[in-house]
Amino acid sequence: MRPRLALPSVSTLHKNLSIPVCCKIRLLPKLEDTIKLALVLQNAGCQVLAVHGRTRESNSRGPADWAAIRQIKEALSIPVVANGGVDELEDVERCLNETKADAVMVAYPALLNPRFFGGGEKADGVELLHEYLSYVERYPAQSKTIKSHARKLLKPMWGKHKDLREQLEAWDERDQAIASVVLRIAQELKYRIDNGIEVDLKPPEAELEEGDGYALFGPQADDDY
Ligand SMILES: Cc1cc2nc3c(=O)[nH]c(=O)nc-3n(C[C@H](O)[C@H](O)[C@H](O)COP(=O)(O)O)c2cc1C
Repeated sequence: MRPRLALPSVSTLHKNLSIPVCCKIRLLPKLEDTIKLALVLQNAGCQVLAVHGRTRESNSRGPADWAAIRQIKEALSIPVVANGGVDELEDVERCLNETKADAVMVAYPALLNPRFFGGGEKADGVELLHEYLSYVERYPAQSKTIKSHARKLLKPMWGKHKDLREQLEAWDERDQAIASVVLRIAQELKYRIDNGIEVDLKPPEAELEEGDGYALFGPQADDDY
């Protein structure tokens, strides 16, 4: 966030809108600077502040600094939303306790499991994909969006079946038939898992490390979130 650009915008929005202005920041390298920024935003009219507990430089999937969020919360009088490090439903309570925040915000984990807040059993990716594609029929989406959602919904299932993931990645995003391709890949994946079929493949030359998917396929590491 660039305070010189953001502050007049927050102030103008606050003065001209009938709804509350909500801002979101990442941690700055120094906590005291982050607290100052948060206070300036509050003074400019921000009425809810979401704090992503990582710096811009830190990896988006590294640990989130909940202690820092707590200190920011303690310095402000407006509600604070804690973000980052809430990967499972059980983390919500822990995050609220440790940060004393008023709410938590979840992004990436809810893309992996859209039933995140429903609790209960871990959702089956293929079942979720069917449901997702039924929504796509009603609310058409771009092929690249469908591919991106399929990648995340199936992520916990890829395991030894990276050849199928590669098939998905190789699919030309301009191709309109993406929904049927995605379904075919998902069904093959489920069939293999249900029947204990393992495909013995040499690792691709540029093998991706677990977690790289986020940097490569999700928001890039240098996105200013
Ligand atoms: C697909 C996607 C899009 C995002 N877009 C934005 C955005 O436009 N603005 C923003 O401030 N953060 C954005 N983020 C970052 C999230 O709001 C959040 O700060 C970050 O993912 C950490 O939270 P998480 O651990 O729950 O994913 C995005 C994240 C994802 C996964």
